[in-house]
Order: sequence, then C-alpha cells, then structure tokens
Amino acid sequence: MPESQTHLMNNYRRLPISFAHGDGAWLYDHKGDAYLDAISGVGVCNLGHCHPNITAAICRQAATLLHSSNLYHIELQQKLATELAAIAGMESSFFCNSGAEANEAAIKLAKLHGHKRGIQTPHILVMEGSFHGRTMATLSATASRKVQAGFEPLVPGFVRAPFNDIAALRTIAENNPNVCAILVEPIQGEGGVNIPSPTYLTELRTLCDTYQWLMMLDEVQTGNGRTGKYFAYQHENIHPDIVTTAKGLGNGLPIGVCLAQGAAAQLFKPGHHGSTFGGNPLVCATALSVIETLFNDSLIERAQRLGHYLLQGFKDILEGSDYIEAIRGKGLMIGIVMKEPCPELVELALGQKLLINVTADRVIRLLPPLTLSDEEAEIILKKVCKLIKTYAGDDRSRPRQVR
Ligand SMILES: Cc1ncc(COP(=O)(O)O)c(C=O)c1O
Repeated sequence: MPESQTHLMNNYRRLPISFAHGDGAWLYDHKGDAYLDAISGVGVCNLGHCHPNITAAICRQAATLLHSSNLYHIELQQKLATELAAIAGMESSFFCNSGAEANEAAIKLAKLHGHKRGIQTPHILVMEGSFHGRTMATLSATASRKVQAGFEPLVPGFVRAPFNDIAALRTIAENNPNVCAILVEPIQGEGGVNIPSPTYLTELRTLCDTYQWLMMLDEVQTGNGRTGKYFAYQHENIHPDIVTTAKGLGNGLPIGVCLAQGAAAQLFKPGHHGSTFGGNPLVCATALSVIETLFNDSLIERAQRLGHYLLQGFKDILEGSDYIEAIRGKGLMIGIVMKEPCPELVELALGQKLLINVTADRVIRLLPPLTLSDEEAEIILKKVCKLIKTYAGDDRSRPRQVR
C-alpha cells in the first residue's frame, strides 16, 4: 500500500513489494515467491536472513534478559567490547543503536579532543562523496545536498575535502589550525563504492600523526567482514584512533559501536554521552553470535573469495561495453558504474526476482550476504549481466522488462 494511504510518514521511496519471511540469501513475498537478495537489507544481513545461530542467540537471550540499562554493569557488553578490541586492535567501545549514532559519538570525541588541544572552534575534515547518517550532525558531515536540503542551519564545524586526495588535505592542514580530526569511509558506500588508492589510509595515518588529528574511520558499511577483512582498514597495516560500525554487527538487530584507542579512548568521562538502549543484553548476545559465526565459518575469507569471483566475472562479461564506466569492488562490496543514470534498474531487477540497489544515480551496488553459496553467486552474476545488457539496449525513456 502506498505511504499516502497509510499512517506512516512519507519519508521513504519504497518499492512496491513487502516480504513475509527470509531464509539465507532469499526473501519471500506474501505469495511465497522467492527473491535473491543481493543487497542484504543494505549491508545488514551479512549472515543472510534468519541464520540459525543468530535466531538461537536471540531466542536464548530474549528468554533470559532483554534490558537492564546502563545504570548497571552489563556483562555481555563487556564481553562484546573485549571481542571487538581484540579483532580491531582498539581499546574501548561505546555502544549505541545505529550507524549515525556511532558517528555522533565519534564527532563528540573529536570535539573533546579539539578542546583539549586548546582549539576553541574545533573543525572536522569530511569528504566529498561521503555519507555518515541522517541525524543533524551526521547529515552535516555528509556530502549530499539532497540529504541536507531543507534542514539548514546545518551543524557547523565540518570542512570538506576531495576524497582520495592527500595533497588537498595537506593544504588544508597548513591553512586551518582548527582542524582536529578527520572522518572518512575507507570505501565510500552510498557515494558509489569509491575505493581510494591502496596507500590512502596509510598516508592519512601519517598526516593525522603529524597534525595531531584524530583519524576516525566510518566502517558502518565496510565493517563486519564485508570487504574481506573484519574492518576495511585492516587491508592496510594501520590503526585508526576511532572506528565506527553498525549494520552487519547485529545482522538485523539495531546495534552500533564507536571504538577508540590511545588518548581518544580516554576522552569520555561519566555524563559525557549515553544511550538508553545502547548495548543492551539482547543486541550484545546477538553481535557476539554474529562474530563467532563469521570466524567459525570462515565467512570473511569467503567474502574475499566470492568477491573476487564476482568482480572478475562482471569484468569478463561487461568491461569494455560502451555503457559501462567502471567495475570495482572489495570483497562482497561491488559497484558497477554505468555511464548514464539507471535508477529504473532496481525495479527491473525486482521483476526478475533479484534485489539490488543503485546509488549515486548510476552505480549498481551489490552487497550480498557473506553466506552466499557458489550457485547463488553464479545466479547473481548471470542475472545482473543480463539485466544490464538488456537495459542498455533499450530505449532509455521506456525501459522494457527483461525476459
Ligand atoms: C558509511 C555509513 N555511515 C553511516 C550510515 C548511517 O547508518 P544508520 O542508517 O544505521 O544510521 C550509513 C548507512 O547507510 C553508512 O553507509
């Protein structure tokens, strides 16, 4: 039913379908028709839908304790923080409920860091093409005018720089002594699966050390195994001061985390920040089960292997076509860049019982579950290529259904 005929606010442009249940890489509509999910709820259900380990962990914890509040110690929160610290090489965690909230925590840490350094109006460097969320501070940090329009005045204190351009950052560093931190996605997701040069983060680390900036990485989308390492920064031999993640950490339950190390880990004092639901026993038990499953089933290596297979497959079939600009990806985060805007492809794919996404107007984005079977990967490869080829041969103003 369209939103205008319901009691929901009209803030989403939804596709004309709803799903009744899910199983692995498949979602089923109310008639029982199966759709292959190559977007995983926008990079959330990395273990697929209704993974038995996760369902069991949720049921177990729901029957034990859902919530007690951060007025008290929460053992599962401590356990999850310990796990994440070991995986990430970080020291401490603040738990919240979403990616935007994790970034809000990072932004607050940056402000504390700036003030501690004696900067009265601390500035945070953010990138062109970035997406950090929809709260007032995170939409101000986001590069999209579409996201910001109508919500002015924006939160001040963000300075924008081109992505993947260390020289531009150096110039800013020399001219703006108020900068105290940089917030960057290791691979830009919503911006179009933009992958920086292989030494970008290492060079950023050096720059941050030189100017005493906090290096803050937004791994809300790239984290939790998606790119073939637990965190995307682990492809390079560096440690950020702060890393945020959410999405895949709960495989569908809302959890976000802001991790910090070194001086940044000591900035929050009691009363500085908080969240009623953040890190409650239910979401922590779930995230612990997600992490255990990712490692026990070698799913991060699987993301690397399947990602390589799919990327190479797309290149073999599509590269060089006059409607393709680029094909890029890391692990199971893949972008096929068309030369022209192609928003209609999402609905055409739906007609073929395939769930994909188009971001930045013309980037077909695939974020399939890491549990995808080889056969399912093959179906995605074939269906996506067929869809693109048929679409590119169509009259753009009247796209046809793919047969
Ligand atoms: C890189 C990045 N940061 C932040 C967010 C915001 O996360 P949430 O929607 O959970 O607030 C997203 C969501 O797509 C994202 O991709």
